[in-house]
Amino acid sequence: MTDIPNLFRPLELRGIETRNRVVISPMCQYSAHEGHLDDWHLVHLGRFAIGGAGIIFTEATAVQKSGRITHGCPGLWADSQIPGHSRVAQFALRNGAIPAIQLGHAGRKSSMQRPWFGNGPLDQSDFNRGDMPWRPVGPSGIPVADGWPVPRELSVADICQLVDDFVAATKRALQAGYKIIEIHGAHGYLVHSFLSPLSNRRTDSYGGDLRGRMRLATEIVEAVRATLPDDIPLFFRTSAVDGPLDGWTLEDTVVLAARLREIGVDVMDCSSSGISGAATASGNSKRQPGFQVPYAERVRKETGIKTMAVGLITHPVQAEKILKRGQADLIAIAREALVDPMWALHAARELGYDTDFASWPKQSGWWLVARQKTSELYDPDSAG
Ligand SMILES: Cc1cc2nc3c(=O)[nH]c(=O)nc-3n(C[C@H](O)[C@H](O)[C@H](O)COP(=O)(O)O)c2cc1C
Repeated sequence: MTDIPNLFRPLELRGIETRNRVVISPMCQYSAHEGHLDDWHLVHLGRFAIGGAGIIFTEATAVQKSGRITHGCPGLWADSQIPGHSRVAQFALRNGAIPAIQLGHAGRKSSMQRPWFGNGPLDQSDFNRGDMPWRPVGPSGIPVADGWPVPRELSVADICQLVDDFVAATKRALQAGYKIIEIHGAHGYLVHSFLSPLSNRRTDSYGGDLRGRMRLATEIVEAVRATLPDDIPLFFRTSAVDGPLDGWTLEDTVVLAARLREIGVDVMDCSSSGISGAATASGNSKRQPGFQVPYAERVRKETGIKTMAVGLITHPVQAEKILKRGQADLIAIAREALVDPMWALHAARELGYDTDFASWPKQSGWWLVARQKTSELYDPDSAG
């Protein structure tokens, strides 16, 4: 395998094998209808399957209706939502990609505006449009920031219901055909808000010390793992650091990852921030290429769990180096995939792996290789 770039080596995870290490990171589209996916999602995600990615994540999907970030976020709290997901999953599978889904609950950050309407809590301008607010929930009655609604503190009965709803959504995800489940434990949403001492001030067994704050995450993971067949991998997205020093730290993440590995998580997806502001806001790491890679590296090295690196990874050489150095096992890209949905296929060419369009869909590869043999493309410097 020495001639194959690391980025294009398959990865075996339980019963699945990915065609490469390129993962399309979950990306909210705020375009679902009462939690149902439509043609937009099929085309949005389908283009990444045609574009050669190994794993494609459907965006944060709510396990309860009240767990949506916005009115436009999808769900799997009802059986009627399965067919929309099924179309996405089946299309990905038919085109060589592994369909994956991120399940979550927005917690304190539910009842928000779609980003293009402001990205804050719903306000009068949204009510005028028919987007009415609902009361967010959280570990404690602490709002995300000034001006945000005070969440209702979840009771232990609510927590039991939540865990059951993660299980029910997992079953629906499997029915739809997804082959990887990820628990959204990052970006200030519900699971993360239980982990962080900045948002969790509970005095019962779901708060207090690290073990107490980790309890919700571990209970969800245990319940979901028990629901999954052995051959289906489970990922967990973490905000590896909150940013503020009195918040969740990288050391805490290492402890969490070690525990999650013991109870059946296969990959830690290492993001950061978001505890007090919009999705990934309020970190203190400088935004620079690969700024979250050190988190994936440390978690991998200290716990032995597989990791996924994400965040400002845009260049194939950069991705290849991360894998070669053993900093992560998978490379997730989000915004760069919006720039170039065929990023994986272009990366293969860039790394000298696929010079004859062999990994392109047959519908286009055949033509492109023929064109390559027979024509010279327009050169603005020499042609008229
Ligand atoms: C449009 C958009 C929507 C996003 N939605 C989600 C989401 O549903 N769940 C999540 O964990 N992260 C979400 N993210 C964060 C990305 O998955 C990713 O972690 C982040 O954009 C950094 O990667 P990048 O630099 O390659 O864009 C979103 C990002 C974008 C750009």
